Amino acid sequence: MSSSSFTHNGFYVLMIVVSTMVVVCAGGSFYQDIDLAWGDNHAKIFNGGQLLSLSLDKVSGCGFKSKKEYLFGRIDMQLKLVAHNSAGTVTSYYLSSQGPKHDEIDFEFLGNLSGDPYILHTNVFSQGKGDREQQFYLWFDPTKNFHTYSIIWKPHHIIFLVDNTPIRVFKNAESVGVPFPHNQPMRIYSSLWNADNWATRGGLVKIDWSKAPFTAYYRNFKATQFSSKSFNPNSGVEWHTTELDAYGRRRLRWVQKYFMIYNYCNDLKRFPLGLPAECTRTRF
Ligand SMILES: *[C@@H]1O[C@H](CO)[C@@H](O)[C@H](O)[C@H]1NC(C)=O
Repeated sequence: MSSSSFTHNGFYVLMIVVSTMVVVCAGGSFYQDIDLAWGDNHAKIFNGGQLLSLSLDKVSGCGFKSKKEYLFGRIDMQLKLVAHNSAGTVTSYYLSSQGPKHDEIDFEFLGNLSGDPYILHTNVFSQGKGDREQQFYLWFDPTKNFHTYSIIWKPHHIIFLVDNTPIRVFKNAESVGVPFPHNQPMRIYSSLWNADNWATRGGLVKIDWSKAPFTAYYRNFKATQFSSKSFNPNSGVEWHTTELDAYGRRRLRWVQKYFMIYNYCNDLKRFPLGLPAECTRTRF
């Protein structure tokens, strides 16, 4: 690695630290940004609006949604997932529009037995159609500390990031006939629920209710709506080029090489008549 790119990366990290601090100082509050959507008292906001928790027990799971809707933007949230034996629980955190032809950009965290790894499941729906799963292991224990999970949604691509490392890029492939989420505003949703009919090894491992309640924590929510002006090709903003620099592309390849455990684009058995059009090899 050249020293100039090292300096660049160091600077980048510094920028993230600074911007996170700005959010905290600005006093962004879950009270202002979030509605507890279901599950009554299972979802809680505390620490003056800085911390939110979702719990699941035998009675109910729960969930929240953002008060605002976004049409393109960047969403950042720090999550600390259900610790210890979380097998059968799923914590989902996603963007979604309404209606039968809805668009959706998903993170789902599939719990596991103590010491076994969570699976991070991702998907993209456009015009009501999903079937675009990619799954990953994480390179850290997501239950020990808070980590940042982000979605960048722009007209030409969607990027999933974990601690600012890109793990997945879904490119706009409208030019080859693949619908892309571009006109339906989305809200942020999150929920913690019982999925022990499928989540852990296809439903083999059931929730151990003696360990309930299962609790996940959230903080430092930040949503930036991109103004449509910034996507004007004449505005001077390079909206048509991908925003991953060489370091970002290297990180993406690293994650995909060592941590990706499923990619629908490699699943020839599932698509015997040919892989989906957006799967044709593209460079990031
Ligand atoms: C749970 O752990 C097992 C064993 O390491 C692994 O095969 C599996 O992918 C993990 N995740 C889930 C959700 O089952």
